[in-house]
Amino acid sequence: MWKGRFAKATADLVQQYGESISYDWRMYRHDIAGSIAHARAQVKAGTLTEDEFSAIEQGLRDIEKEIESGDFEFSIELEDIHMNIESALTQKIGAAGAKLHTARSRNDQVATDTRLYCREEIDPLTTHLTELQGALLKQAEQYAAAVIPGYTHLQRGQPVTVGHHLLAYVEMLDRDKGRLADCRKRVNVCPLGSGALAGSTINLDRQQIADELGFDRVTTNSMDAISDRDYIAELLFAMALVGTHLSRLSEDLILWCSSEFGFATLSDAHTTGSSLMPQKKNPDVCELTRGKTGRLYGNLVALLTAAKGLPLTYNRDLQEDKEPLFDSIDTLKLALKVNTEMIADMAINVDACEAAASDPLLLATDLADYLVKNGVPFRQAHELVGQAVAASVDSGTPLDQLDLTQVSEHYGADAKEVFDLQTALAARTNPGAPSVENVKAEVTRWQDEL
Ligand code: ARG
Repeated sequence: MWKGRFAKATADLVQQYGESISYDWRMYRHDIAGSIAHARAQVKAGTLTEDEFSAIEQGLRDIEKEIESGDFEFSIELEDIHMNIESALTQKIGAAGAKLHTARSRNDQVATDTRLYCREEIDPLTTHLTELQGALLKQAEQYAAAVIPGYTHLQRGQPVTVGHHLLAYVEMLDRDKGRLADCRKRVNVCPLGSGALAGSTINLDRQQIADELGFDRVTTNSMDAISDRDYIAELLFAMALVGTHLSRLSEDLILWCSSEFGFATLSDAHTTGSSLMPQKKNPDVCELTRGKTGRLYGNLVALLTAAKGLPLTYNRDLQEDKEPLFDSIDTLKLALKVNTEMIADMAINVDACEAAASDPLLLATDLADYLVKNGVPFRQAHELVGQAVAASVDSGTPLDQLDLTQVSEHYGADAKEVFDLQTALAARTNPGAPSVENVKAEVTRWQDEL
């Protein structure tokens, strides 16, 4: 493509080092769509005839079919998807093919292709997120009233329900969808026409190109347009944060499925056995999700690092943007799909949940609230209940069986009523709190929303 200035062929190792066709081939449809829009704009600019345009369009469509059917031979000598397609086109249609690259550079071309690619992937990612929300929501509906301890520091804190716990993840995933939607706005801007870095002396109708490709608008600075990779970084971040959420969910499920907790059982289809220990049923999907989150972070950091020291405008370092992008998209899509299936098939062991939630210490805060309602300042109430808890721990008498009236005159005979778990849960009616009624209302709200 640049033989005019060069006396020697590119060294084999340089070719091997610099090729991107082994992975950027997957942008072939985007590249072809961009080329057709670019060619159409050339007709308007007078640099292509209608006939030449038709030959280009037909040639590109044929190439697209060949790639789809696996008949296209990619060559690493042609480095990337852009040159592979352009070269095949020229071989196919001759002179008109050699005119396609007028007023275009691979710099604006690759920026256009990756934007189209990101845009196309944001939609299925969003759908997969909604499906996972749906699976969580179904479980939340079924177990809206199943009481479990809520934890801080992985120590039992206060009673919540399985439904409330799972809906927390529905919230997180919804923010993830919001981030993807927001990122999509900045992705969907058309850089084509920015040329290598300074536009072109041949004036293409950039708005027409953008319209044809479904972009919301055109970029407004050619230097920024061809070297900007913010949209990829944003998408990688949005995906990394989905990873954080999935990883936390994984960790919860790993705990829930342990003999120590026993709150949940994953289906045989979504667990694995041990080659040595016959009794084992391991939550590998959860562990893989937790582990793969590391890749999602790594991909984000790889791109940020590749971009950070670059002077304007294009530098070849930017070719390193695609592998992290593709890897995160592949990794996350599969993670979302397998987690959706796994959650849908998960069983909750209500008895184990209830047994754990029946620990009267979960209602120590409620006991302090009881004292507050009797006029004791909260700090003092906290201390009084703390003393009662210490007495309970020391004597081995459960908190709800201590004679609290002996501990302080602020306790009445009705203090014991605090330890009715259902009443305690039902009292948590503030917006966002886990009374069963609230949780059911939230389930309904999410059903409408999704
Ligand atoms: N394969 C290249 C990339 O992904 C395309 C752009 C090449 N531009 C250039 N000036 N060498 O970045």
